[in-house]
Amino acid sequence: MSSFDTLLSPYRLKHLLLRNRVLSTGHASGLAENGMPGETYQYYHEEKAKGGIGLTIFGGSSSVAPDSPLAFNQIDLSHDRVLPYLERMSDRVHRHGAAIFCQITHLGRRGNWRNEHWLPMVGPSASREIAHRSFAKEMEDFDFRRIIKAFADAAERGRKGGLDGIEVMAAAHHLIDSFLSPVVNHRTDSYGGSLENRMRFGLEVLGAIRERVGNDFIVGLRLSGDELIEGGLDASECLKVASLFGQSGLIDYLSIYQAHGDTFAGLAAMLPDMTFPPAAFLYLASAVKAEVDIPIIHASAIRDVTTASRAIEDGHIDLVAMTRAHIADPHIVRKLQDNRLDDIRQCVGANYCVDHAGQGGLCIQNAATGREKHLPHILSKAPHSRRIVVAGGGPGGLEAARAAAERGHRVTLFESSAVLGGQVNLAKTVPQRESMSGIVRWLEHQVRKKGVEIRLNTPATPDAVLAENPDFVFVATGGIPHRPTFTGADLTVSSWSILSGEVQAGSNVLVYDEVGLPTGIGCVDFLASRGCTVEMVTADRMVAEEVGATLHVGYVRNLYKNNVIMSPNMQLVGAYQEGNALIAVLRNAYTGSEEERSVDQIVHELGTSPDQSLYRALRPYSSNLGEVDYEALIDDRVQNVRTNPDGAFALFRIGDALFSRNIHAAIYDAGRLVKDI
Ligand SMILES: Cc1cc2nc3c(=O)[nH]c(=O)nc-3n(C[C@H](O)[C@H](O)[C@H](O)COP(=O)(O)O)c2cc1C
Ligand code: SF4
Repeated sequence: MSSFDTLLSPYRLKHLLLRNRVLSTGHASGLAENGMPGETYQYYHEEKAKGGIGLTIFGGSSSVAPDSPLAFNQIDLSHDRVLPYLERMSDRVHRHGAAIFCQITHLGRRGNWRNEHWLPMVGPSASREIAHRSFAKEMEDFDFRRIIKAFADAAERGRKGGLDGIEVMAAAHHLIDSFLSPVVNHRTDSYGGSLENRMRFGLEVLGAIRERVGNDFIVGLRLSGDELIEGGLDASECLKVASLFGQSGLIDYLSIYQAHGDTFAGLAAMLPDMTFPPAAFLYLASAVKAEVDIPIIHASAIRDVTTASRAIEDGHIDLVAMTRAHIADPHIVRKLQDNRLDDIRQCVGANYCVDHAGQGGLCIQNAATGREKHLPHILSKAPHSRRIVVAGGGPGGLEAARAAAERGHRVTLFESSAVLGGQVNLAKTVPQRESMSGIVRWLEHQVRKKGVEIRLNTPATPDAVLAENPDFVFVATGGIPHRPTFTGADLTVSSWSILSGEVQAGSNVLVYDEVGLPTGIGCVDFLASRGCTVEMVTADRMVAEEVGATLHVGYVRNLYKNNVIMSPNMQLVGAYQEGNALIAVLRNAYTGSEEERSVDQIVHELGTSPDQSLYRALRPYSSNLGEVDYEALIDDRVQNVRTNPDGAFALFRIGDALFSRNIHAAIYDAGRLVKDI
């Protein structure tokens, strides 16, 4: 028996036979189009089915009623127009042997009232949610009738649409959970006060659903195992709630979640990033399994198949969710079955998928996820093998090399330093961010396995590139840190020089961040964790303004713990030496008044400008003079620009060599060009 046999063995969930015990829990992927799960959404879940998953739950937070805001670009299940989409979605997933559920909810006050219909937000009581910044109207008798019916209608739509089941969301302080939690529910009627009263609304919803869909349709419930908030339900109270729902006879499984969605710290615990240990909240689900006699599901930072397998084998849960793990690699199960563990692209917990959902792609390291319609996860072989040169071994260059080799081309990769990885090698030096290195580890393994010729310590000079007689050249030479231009700029050092170890950290440091991305706050975290006294200054409204909501929590928490001073709305406008001290001159962005700081080191983070030297040198020899046909790029057509008939190869710049962005953009630049070569 391999240690994965149980994980891969079928599981009977009531009448439904799942082909294995691996699933993806409901998540708001941000892929809905006008509230409908169109082709982009359908292909996204179909890919998981192709990849061997047992069950995929789509439609995180699908709204059952028009006053449940589509806050995360979710699916609108409040209308019959969704039916043909559900039918197509279930067909696509079933045809590959997986089961499919949809998560349904009413978000209550989680969202913004300035939405499509401008209807009042509702809650058990008139209170405000910090994370989504809205107040709620206290629910009245007609709201109860309307919303309970809306849940039953939505569940029936799921059944009519060919789904195998639905999951009712009763965690994260969505509406049902708001009733359960004493933090939000301050009612004094039969829906507030005692636990029995606070559970009433949820039970009424489930009762109405069950009556409508009958017994041969799976109905699950997602509940918190510990709200992790002062005054909220703790683990023992959550256990009681789970037991009572479990005994109700109305549901077929429980999915045990954690924390609350009202605050940013709560969101970060709901969606644990790389700063949390693996399977950080499995103990909560395990406690419920020990008490409650229906199947238990759990998701939370189970990123690798060994941990997943142990969670099942050791009897902690019945079905294991690897939700972000499947965003990073939808083919986990197939690879496991084929004994190709090394090929699994493991989720690194970067939470790009959470913090940037709805902005195009989903995964920081896998540009195909959520773009399956245009960018396949598995590239087909090209009709002719070409000679490809890639200059630069950061994530963009590595992805270009990987994808080109997968297409059957002969690839040479030049990297001027001794190691691959580019800026990821800086990112991984930040405390608790070491797992960023997983992005490069996987790419490096793949390019080596696919036979890419890697030349380390070898700068891609124009002569060296031309000597390869390439058909295509990808310039992925990255960016170089912007230098400040104010008086005394020479007295400052870049964040890169600190993170790379090139410059030793001072003891009393001012870090000026004009960009707001992880590099600046990561550098502060790096310095503060080494015992430096640090002030972080930014001209933005808050520090690390571009860092997504869940990631922000981990960084800023560390800064508070290390007594970092955070100074928003201030610009660094000058520096000078005074004795042994360095003086930083700061200007208030609103009043213009100036103040000074005396430190022993000033660090700047101003982003990068493209390293264009190789690109400029190669341009005259190229057939396209570096030009990209955007229409062809958007329409998935081959690049065919020939502005220089004498040119011998097509030349493309990708990643920060083009303009300063992020890892995902670099990987996407590479993937979308190479797939058609
Ligand atoms: C982009 C994104 C959106 C999510 N939205 C929802 C949601 O709407 N409802 C929900 O119950 N969980 C949602 N989740 C949480 C997941 O269901 C799951 O609990 C979480 O990703 C942790 O599991 P994992 O570590 O296996 O990814 C979301 C997760 C992601 C990544
Ligand atoms: S973005 Fe990060 S957390 Fe999300 S799936 Fe990709 S690697 Fe995992």
